[in-house]
Amino acid sequence: MKIAIGSDHAGFGLKEEVITILKGLSLEVTDCGTDNTESVDYPDFGEKVSKLVSAGQVDKGILICGTGIGMSMVANKFPNVRAALCNDLFCAKMSRLHNDANILVLGGRLIGKDLAAEIVRTWLSTQFEGSRHLRRLEKIKIIEDILKSNGK
Ligand code: RB5
Repeated sequence: MKIAIGSDHAGFGLKEEVITILKGLSLEVTDCGTDNTESVDYPDFGEKVSKLVSAGQVDKGILICGTGIGMSMVANKFPNVRAALCNDLFCAKMSRLHNDANILVLGGRLIGKDLAAEIVRTWLSTQFEGSRHLRRLEKIKIIEDILKSNGK
């Protein structure tokens, strides 16, 4: 599985920890930065990861900022992206089972590395349930396509 990861300065430390976990799971990891704790703007890094997921160049993405809120806002602007902010295990599981989330967003200032590791492992190993949830995702896609065709 190919996975892209990115963060701003507030998520940098946790990003490095998560990369170690992903490599330990033998995943192919694309690190989109940032590369240190110098202050940067989260949309720049959210865009890099979201573009790769949106275009199908990677299977999944992980984004980390201070709270996870800004990265979620950015990621969900991109077509085909279903980004879920999950700072707990229940949301991590449900975001895969019911929402087929393809980007996991974490709050680097909210969770520590051990919880993040459990969240990432749960998120990656939980499969989408399909059935009625697929119908709902198709409705999201219809909204996305209508907005696109209206140039909005
Ligand atoms: C950066 O200070 C912080 O605003 C950012 O990491 C994020 O939490 C935004 O949503």
